[in-house]
Order: sequence, then structure tokens, then C-alpha cells
Amino acid sequence: MTIIAETDRLVIRTWIPQDDAEQALKIYSDPEVTRFFSSTKASDVEQMVNILERWLKRATQLNNGTGLWAMVLKETGEIVGTILLILLKGNDGQFTEDYEIGWHLKKSAWGKGYATEAAIAIINYGFNILNLREIYSIANQDNIASIRVTQRLGMVPLGSTNKYHNKKLELFKLSAPTQ
Ligand SMILES: CC(C)(COP(=O)(O)OP(=O)(O)OC[C@H]1O[C@@H](n2cnc3c(N)ncnc32)[C@H](O)[C@@H]1OP(=O)(O)O)[C@@H](O)C(=O)NCCC(=O)NCCS
Repeated sequence: MTIIAETDRLVIRTWIPQDDAEQALKIYSDPEVTRFFSSTKASDVEQMVNILERWLKRATQLNNGTGLWAMVLKETGEIVGTILLILLKGNDGQFTEDYEIGWHLKKSAWGKGYATEAAIAIINYGFNILNLREIYSIANQDNIASIRVTQRLGMVPLGSTNKYHNKKLELFKLSAPTQ
């Protein structure tokens, strides 16, 4: 297990598939949470273990500092969601060179500022540790909660795009501060 970042309330760390799957399932078996993305849905612990193992394997293979990580509440050890920094896939299913930040919270953890808090830490990680120049976010136009997070982060709306996932999506961008 590797800790990626820490905030006031959260530890952001790599997943431990066997130990974490039950808690992760609370996020990825809820249709309200997965409403706007098709790739990650699970209906039992075994499926969830497989997904978490796939994420870890991909991060190891790519070895570029990207990944999908658990957000863990420091106070209780509860896993409240996922924060991710990954390469966006183009319409052909291949990785592009565009880095995407994203967030998935279990419903009981909505409205508490965890997505924004974790994203600020991962944006710093992306700019300062990975030396990225730009970080993007994508959202379905109806995903108001996610678009609000991009606004809180000061991301710039670039309008809709058809470049990724064979879907029309709203695109947001944050540039690294210039020195
Ligand atoms: C998108 C998603 C993560 C947004 O969650 P969220 O809880 O609205 O976002 P945040 O964690 O940033 O929380 C912001 C809210 O917490 C409140 N908040 C901020 N800081 C806070 C703090 N320190 N303490 C308590 N509350 C706080 C804010 O006032 C805000 O509430 P508001 O929207 O009523 O103004 C969540 O809706 C979700 O998981 N959706 C499903 C997955 C999804 O679609 N993900 C993105 C697309 S792939």
C-alpha cells in the first residue's frame, strides 16, 4: 500500500483489493453513484476485487504516477470514495496524452467537501510531483454535482467535446501555475 497524499481529513492511498472490496462496493453498486459512467459497476465483492486489482495492475504497468485511489477518512478509517488521475482514453480505446482528474463518492459522503479536498491534493501531486502542465476533467452535461466540483477547483470550462469515450462530454481544464 502506498500513500499518495494527505489532507486535513483524508488519506489518499492505493487500494488493497481483498481488504477494501466490501467498502468499495458501497460506492460502485449504487446506481445513483454510477449513473454517469458505464465502466465501473459491481454487484458483488468478487467483481469489486477484480476491478480494484485491474486498477492496481494498470497503474503498475503504466508506471507514470497515475492511478485510481481510495479516499480514507482519517478519523474513522472509512473509505468514502475514489479520486483518480489517469490518462483519458480516446474514441479508439487507446490512451491519449491528456490527464484526467475525477471523483466518485459514496452517497452518504456527498455534500461534505471530500471530492474538492481530495482533488486539490491530487492536483498538487500532478503539477508538483508528476510535473504535468495541464489537468482535464470531463463530465456529462447533466452531472451538475461534478461540474460544481470543477468550478470549486477553478477549472476552466472548454465546452463540449466528442474526443473521449465516444460520447459528448463537457471538458474542463486547469493549467499548472507559471513560475
Ligand atoms: C460528483 C460528486 C463527487 C460531488 O460530490 P459533492 O459532495 O457535491 O462534492 P464535494 O465533496 O466537493 O462537496 C461539496 C459540498 O460539500 C460542502 N462542503 C465543502 N467543504 C466542506 C466542509 N469542509 N465540511 C462540510 N461540507 C463542506 C459544500 O458546501 C458543497 O455542498 P453544496 O454542493 O451543497 O454547496 C458526487 O456527486 C458523486 O460521487 N457523484 C457520483 C459519481 C460521479 O458522477 N462522479 C463524476 C463523474 S465520473
